[in-house]
Amino acid sequence: YVIGVDLGTSAVKTLLIAQDGTLKAEATREYPLYHEKAGWSEQDPEDWVTGTIGALKELIDLNGITGEDIEGLSFSGQMHGLVLLNDADRPVRRAILWNDTRTTEQCREISHTLGDKLLSVTRNPALEGFTLPKILWVKQNEPDIFAQATHFLLPKDYVRLRLTGTKHMDLSDAAGTLMLDIAGRSWSQEVIAAFEIPQSYCPPLVEAGAYVGTLTPEVSQATGLSTSTRIFAGGADNACGAIGAGILTPGLTLCSIGTSGVILTYEEDASADYAGKVHFFNHGQENAFYAMGVTLAAGYSLSWFRNAFAKGETFDAVLDGVGDIPAGSNGLLFTPYIVGERTPHADAKIRGSFIGIDGSHTRAHFARAVMEGITFSLNESIDIFRNAGKTIDTIISIGGGAKNPLWLQMQADIFRANVVALTNEQGPGLGAAMLAAVGSGWFPTLEACGKVFVKHDRVYHPNEAVSGQYEQLFRIYQQAYSQTAGLN
Ligand code: XUL
Repeated sequence: YVIGVDLGTSAVKTLLIAQDGTLKAEATREYPLYHEKAGWSEQDPEDWVTGTIGALKELIDLNGITGEDIEGLSFSGQMHGLVLLNDADRPVRRAILWNDTRTTEQCREISHTLGDKLLSVTRNPALEGFTLPKILWVKQNEPDIFAQATHFLLPKDYVRLRLTGTKHMDLSDAAGTLMLDIAGRSWSQEVIAAFEIPQSYCPPLVEAGAYVGTLTPEVSQATGLSTSTRIFAGGADNACGAIGAGILTPGLTLCSIGTSGVILTYEEDASADYAGKVHFFNHGQENAFYAMGVTLAAGYSLSWFRNAFAKGETFDAVLDGVGDIPAGSNGLLFTPYIVGERTPHADAKIRGSFIGIDGSHTRAHFARAVMEGITFSLNESIDIFRNAGKTIDTIISIGGGAKNPLWLQMQADIFRANVVALTNEQGPGLGAAMLAAVGSGWFPTLEACGKVFVKHDRVYHPNEAVSGQYEQLFRIYQQAYSQTAGLN
């Protein structure tokens, strides 16, 4: 077996995966989020460690296996979170997470100081979620705490440090710090010097698939895992999500609809230029990259709709009757900006709208309009890719949005692409397990592993007439942003 550990924002999920890619067992531990002030989002790194050890112990205990049965283990982690450490490798404060938005001023400072270099070197604009603005925030607002810090890690790297005693950061996660020279695959001396961050702050960089060591005897004892299990670095959750969905060759794109939504497309080199409109990060596969657009409230828009208008009902009940409503919801249009929007607007203040309400509309019309609005928002990212000359014709769909055949067909129609569902989708944890499987020598490459581990289900083809109709609506949808921007 191999184990994939997915260190998420609400919980850590561990997957026990057999050699044919099937899921043998899983164990999860939740941990709290701290929102001390508006816009703040923090976690206690110790909770991640306790949760991971607890979940691993349960995985071994309950499944009649011994630690020796586990050949390899690797990680997927929530991106961008700042874990500042002192010289004894202890956190000097709680971790500041990817969804914390306190750093607007630091982002302005970074853009101003670096100018064009920011995009040409880091390939991304300065966004509140990224790590560098968080480092500057602590430096400026908590100088006494900052003075104790000697280096930093990202969330899963800290957990790996505590499990193995070794300190590394992998390229796919380092890509989200805004301090990495993405194409050069090294810490950008220019960026760190501009903000007086000593090189010693930045951990050694490795590939996501790199072998980094074994568990410490204490962790082996606490979990039941063996000290002979090989540990591999692991990658960012979006990179691992892509690996776990088989986005490992040119021409493949991922659509993930969870709380937020992601359109992620494989890039074989760093030559594509999306002018900072989407994220551009190193992949967990060696020498590859991916570009990614984000819809902040994807599944979250549907959860909001259910809580506001159908509290207590299941999602199936909320979506009941949606299939009888024609494409376009009889003129009802929804924009899913209920918590702001990332791609393409990077606007935290914009809010959503229902437009075109008719006296004949029922709740099912509204539910369908919400699904369509979320999918239109994701199509904005696809539009950016296509406008830059990229071909998007095959999309692997995962997450809650892939559980509903009607939504999968809607994706094919709105995206004008073939949409493929998976039979054994396990999210980023499977990507982490694949890194461990390849590292353990089960397969020569991630691609070869993907052929066994990632199983395709049905393919949904776009219906030409419906696609044409949606294209017209999408143009109106795109105008809604500027027309409603003055409301808030
Ligand atoms: C990516 C991002 C999120 C986190 C969630 O830029 O901020 O997807 O990786 O864990």
